Amino acid sequence: MDTLEAIRNRRSIRRYKAEVIPKDDLETIVDAGRLAATGSNRQPWDFIIVTEKPVIVNFKVSGAWIESASAVIVVVMDPNSRWWVEDGAAAIENMLLASTALGCGSCWVEGDALPHEEMIKSLLRIPADKRVMALVPLGRPAETPTPRKKPLEEVLHWEKF
Ligand SMILES: Cc1cc2nc3c(=O)[nH]c(=O)nc-3n(C[C@H](O)[C@H](O)[C@H](O)COP(=O)(O)O)c2cc1C
Repeated sequence: MDTLEAIRNRRSIRRYKAEVIPKDDLETIVDAGRLAATGSNRQPWDFIIVTEKPVIVNFKVSGAWIESASAVIVVVMDPNSRWWVEDGAAAIENMLLASTALGCGSCWVEGDALPHEEMIKSLLRIPADKRVMALVPLGRPAETPTPRKKPLEEVLHWEKF
């Protein structure tokens, strides 16, 4: 799958088949995250791949559907780094696109994860001075959602707003 195809095909997938995503694919997905653009090349990130079901069930607080994920990538950022939010967002989007290219469903879970950040930090022994930016559950897609996207002509402006 080429890059534009992955961008066009990517959707947030929240239903998964009971199929394990191979370790190599999980590493390829995180590798795509670590290669993202990052302000001043600071790379203020760490990624935790969680595959153990008894640990994954704890993420249900951020969405009951996460329990059926084959793996969850926890995106850990250094908030003392100047562009940590932008850097984290770039890494997450890269991982979503890599997942799509590998036939793996994924979803950026931030809004529902942040209220549980302290629980996630203590569960995974994440240092106190780091932030959990998002969870990225992964699994073979068991749905094909088609959310409405604004048409290009509605958002594209040539030369001036
Ligand atoms: C910053 C951010 C936070 C998000 N947080 C959540 C979340 O907490 N739970 C969830 O199910 N989806 C979450 N999403 C996924 C969005 O709901 C999804 O991207 C949006 O509905 C558009 O659908 P699409 O990704 O299929 O294009 C988040 C996406 C972004 C970019």
